[in-house]
Amino acid sequence: MGSDNIESILIENRQFAPNQDFVNRARINADQLAALHQQANDDYTGFWAQQAREALDWHKPFTKILNESKAPHYSWFDDGELNVSYNCIDRHLAKSANKNAIIFEGEQGDTSYITYQELHSRVSTFANALKAKGITSGDRVVIYMPMTPEAVIAMQACARIGAIHSVVFGGFSAESLRDRINDAGAKMLITADGGHRGGKIVELKSAADKALDTSGGCPTIENVIVYQRTAHNIAMQSGRDIWWHDAIKEQSNDCEPTWVNAEHPLFLLYTSGSTGKPKGIQHSSAGYLLGAALTNSWVFDLNDNDIFWCTADVGWITGHTYVAYGPLAVGATIVIYEGAPTVPDAGRFWKMVERHKITVFYTAPTAIRALMKQGDEFPNAYDLSSIRLLGTVGEPINPEAWMWYHTVIGKERCPIVDTWWQTETGCNMITPIPGAMFTKPGSCTKALPGIMADVVDEDGNSITEANKGGYLVITKPFPSMLRTIWGDDERYVDTYYPKFDGRFYLAGDSARKDEDGYFWIMGRIDDVLNVSGHRLGTMEVESALVAHELVAEAAVVGKPHEIKGESIFAYVVLKGERPAGGVDDELTKTLRDWVGEQIGAIAKPDEIRYADNLPKTRSGKIMRRLLRTIAKGEEITSDTSTLENEAILDQLQGKI
Ligand code: WTA
Repeated sequence: MGSDNIESILIENRQFAPNQDFVNRARINADQLAALHQQANDDYTGFWAQQAREALDWHKPFTKILNESKAPHYSWFDDGELNVSYNCIDRHLAKSANKNAIIFEGEQGDTSYITYQELHSRVSTFANALKAKGITSGDRVVIYMPMTPEAVIAMQACARIGAIHSVVFGGFSAESLRDRINDAGAKMLITADGGHRGGKIVELKSAADKALDTSGGCPTIENVIVYQRTAHNIAMQSGRDIWWHDAIKEQSNDCEPTWVNAEHPLFLLYTSGSTGKPKGIQHSSAGYLLGAALTNSWVFDLNDNDIFWCTADVGWITGHTYVAYGPLAVGATIVIYEGAPTVPDAGRFWKMVERHKITVFYTAPTAIRALMKQGDEFPNAYDLSSIRLLGTVGEPINPEAWMWYHTVIGKERCPIVDTWWQTETGCNMITPIPGAMFTKPGSCTKALPGIMADVVDEDGNSITEANKGGYLVITKPFPSMLRTIWGDDERYVDTYYPKFDGRFYLAGDSARKDEDGYFWIMGRIDDVLNVSGHRLGTMEVESALVAHELVAEAAVVGKPHEIKGESIFAYVVLKGERPAGGVDDELTKTLRDWVGEQIGAIAKPDEIRYADNLPKTRSGKIMRRLLRTIAKGEEITSDTSTLENEAILDQLQGKI
C-alpha cells in the first residue's frame, strides 16, 4: 500500500468534555494522566516496572523488566513468578469475600450471584478436577462453552494450575473447533450439552462430537468434561466424556495456585489473519494480566461499587480481558448474560441495566446500531440512571451511532470510551481516560500512558501532517502484547514486523491523527480502497451511508474496475423495508448523491445492493472477504458456518 495518499475526508468536529460529577469521582484526572504520560516518556521500563509492582501480587518479585535479546520476541518481568487466578480471586478475599464477583442472567431469565468466596471455592474445586484428569502446567485445554459463569470458572481453573486454555467461541462450527484443537494439541475439551441463544438450544456437545469423531478427529484429546446447562438429550462417550458435576464430586475446594513464570503462556486465542488459517495468538501471564488490570481501572474507572457489564462472549479477546480476567483482577463485580440482545425483544440489554443497576456498560458499535434501528422506545422504557460510563470496541463507531449512544443511552451524562485494540494487544491501547479527556464522536482519542502509538508512512517516518492517513504502529514493545503465534514464530515475525526493519509492531490498520493528535481508525489496511489512485477508508464510505436517515447499516468493499482500479460496492440495510427484489434505482441515486455530498464524488458507491442483514460473525464482525467475493460475482468458497443468518446470502448475491 502506498500510504502517501490514503485520504481521509470525513471530518467530525464535535467535542464532548466529561461531566463534572464524573470528573470528581474519576480514578484519574487530567493532572494525574499527564503525570503518568510524563513518567512513561521519561523512564519507559521504570514506568512499567512500577505499574507491575503496584497492580499485581507477585509470588517471587521480578528483578528484570524488558528483555529485547530475542526481538521481536520480547519478554517482560522474566524472573518473576505469580499466578493469574490468585491475582483475580484469592487476593481479594480478605476484603471482599462476600462481594459479588459475578451476576449471571440466563436468556430465560434465571439469575445467580457468585461471591468472591464462592468463586474461589468453585474455581479451586474444578482445578482439582482437571488435575485428577491428568492436566498439568503447560497442557492445552480447549473451552467451548455457552456464556455462563462456568466458562469463566473453567478459564480461571486452568490459570490456577498453569494449564493453557484456548477458548473457542460457541458459534464456531465443528470444523473450526477441530482445527483449533489440533493446532493447539489440546489434551482436554471442556464443553456443555448446549446453551440458550435466540430462544433455541445451541448444540455444543453434538458439534464437539462431530469435531472429535469425524474427518480424522482430534487425536490429542483424552477427555471431555461436559457441563450440564440445557439438560436435553446428548450422547456421552464412556471413557472419554465425563459430566462436570461428576468430575467435581469429592474434589476438595482447596487448590494451591501453581506459581508460574511471568512469561508462562496464559492462553491461546485463535483469530483470523489475512490468510485462511486462523492464528493462535499466544499471551503471557504477567504482562497480559498487567494490561488487563490497568485498563479496567484506568479506562473503565472501576471502583468498589461498580457493576460492570461487558457484553462480549468469552470466545473473543474482549471477553477475556473485560470479563474473565481484568475486572476480577481489580476486584469488581461483573455481569454475564447468556443469550441474544433481542430476546424477548430489543429492550433486553436496557432491562438488564435497570435490573442489575449496571454502572459501566461496554459493547460493540454493531450492537449499538442494531438496537438503535429498533427505536428509542426500548431504552426509554427502562431506568438507565445507574449507568455512568459507556464503552465501545471492535470497529470504528460512526458518529451517528456514537451520538445515539451518548444521548439516548448515556442521557448526555456519561463519557464514552471508544477503545481501539486487538486480540494481539491483549488490552485497550488507544482510548480515552474518561475523567481526563474530551472525546470526539468516531475517534478513539489517544494512546494510554506507556503505549507508544503512531501513524507512519511507507518508510516508517512519523506523519506529522494532520489528518494524513498512514500505517498505525506501536513503536515500543509493551507488556500485554502477544508473544508469538502458537507454533509459528516465523509467521509472527512476518505478520507483525514485516516492514520498517522490524522496528515497529504493525497493527494492520490505517489511521490518521487530527490537529489535536487524536487518532481516527480508517479501517484495516486490506480494507483500504484505491479508486482512481485515491485511497479511501471503506469505513468512511460506510459512515457516510449510515449517516443517511434511511440507512441502518452499510458495508463497503472494493471491486476490481478496469479504469478506476477499484470501484466501490456497497451493501446497505435500510431502517425500513428492503426494496422489492433488492433494487431501487431512485434510492440508489439518492444515496450515491448523499455520499457524494458527505465525502466527495470519488467516494460514491458504483453499486448498491440492499439486504435485510449484513453477513457477520457471531462476534459482530462484518465478513468483508465474503462480501468482496460476492461483489466480484465469484462463487463462495469460504466458511459461512458462523453467519447469524445464512439466508441473506441470496439477497446479497442479488438472486432474490
Ligand atoms: C478493529 C477486538 C476502530 C481494528 C478488540 C483492529 C477498532 C481490529 C476498534 C481488532 C475501535 C477494534 N475503533 N477499530 N475502537 N477496536 N477495532 O482482534 O481494525 O477482534 O485491528 O480485537 O478491530 O479486532 P480484534
